[in-house]
Amino acid sequence: MSAAADRYGVIGNPVAHSKSPDIHAAFARQTEQALTYERLLAPLDGFASTVRTLIEQGFKGANVTVPFKLEAFALAGMLSERAEAAGAVNTLKFQGGAIVGDNTDGIGLVTDIVVNAGVPMRGKRILLLGAGGAARGVVLPILAHAPEQLVIANRTESKAVELAARFAGKGTVAASDFRSLQCAFDVVINATSASLSADLPPVPPAVFGEGCLAYDMMYGPAPTVFMAFAQQHGAATRDGLGMLVEQAAESFQCWRGMRPDTRTVYAGLRAKL
Ligand code: ATR
Repeated sequence: MSAAADRYGVIGNPVAHSKSPDIHAAFARQTEQALTYERLLAPLDGFASTVRTLIEQGFKGANVTVPFKLEAFALAGMLSERAEAAGAVNTLKFQGGAIVGDNTDGIGLVTDIVVNAGVPMRGKRILLLGAGGAARGVVLPILAHAPEQLVIANRTESKAVELAARFAGKGTVAASDFRSLQCAFDVVINATSASLSADLPPVPPAVFGEGCLAYDMMYGPAPTVFMAFAQQHGAATRDGLGMLVEQAAESFQCWRGMRPDTRTVYAGLRAKL
C-alpha cells in the first residue's frame, strides 16, 4: 500500500477474532481505494485515549466493537440520527478535529433481510427478541420499513416495555415477555445474546408463522440453537454473517462515499467459516 493510503481500523477488546479487516481489505481492492484497516486493541480503561492517539496518527475513522460502543457514543461530538436512536456507535469518522459517530448495525441487519434474503418488512409482523444493545440498534431501521407491527419481547419484560416506549412515536411497536407470545410472525429476529451460551430464548413455536424467516444476529459454521429450533418448527433461517458484511459496507460508505458490492465478500467469508 502506498504512503498515501488512508488509515482505518476496528477498536475492541478482544479484537483478534474480528473479521472486519478482511472485509474492508476486500472492499478496498474491489473499489480501488487506497486505505489500510487494522485491528486496534484498546485497554479496557483506555478507549478515549486510544481514539485520541489514532487521530494524532492521522487515522480517518474506525469501527468500534465490544465493549466500547457506548463509550464511543459518549465520545462522539456529532451523532447520526440512527446512532442517537441506538444509543451506541459502531462507526467513527474523524473529520477536521471533530469525532462523528454513526451506527450501521441496524441498517446492516435490515439490508440483509430485505435485500439479500428478499424478505420485505413493509406491512409484515416482526418479532424482535431481546432488549439489550443489539436490539436497541435495530428498532429504528425496522420501523423505517413500516411493518404492520413490531413486537419487542424480552426475558426481563420491563426492558422490552422501556425500549418500545422510546420508539412509540416512530411506528407501531409493542412489548411482551416470551411466554405471552401467542400469534404468528413473518420475521423473528434473535437479538438476545443467548446463542453465545448455546441457550434458546424460550419462545413458543407458534411465533413462527407460515413462510416465516427466523434470523439470528449470531453466526457460525453451524446453525445456532435458535436457528435449529426455528427450522424444527417450519421456519426458513438465516444467520448474522450477512449483517456483518452489510454493516461494514455502510461504514465504508460513511468514510469513502461509495458502497461496495457485498455479494462476493459475503461468499468469500462464508466459504472460510
Ligand atoms: P447485547 O449488546 O448483545 O444486546 P446486552 O445489552 O447485555 O447485550 O443484552 C443481552 C440481551 O440478551 C438481553 O435482552 C437479555 O435479556 P435480559 O434483559 O432479560 O437479561 C438477553 N439474553 C441473554 N441471555 C439470554 C437467555 N439465555 N435467554 C433469553 N434472553 C437472554
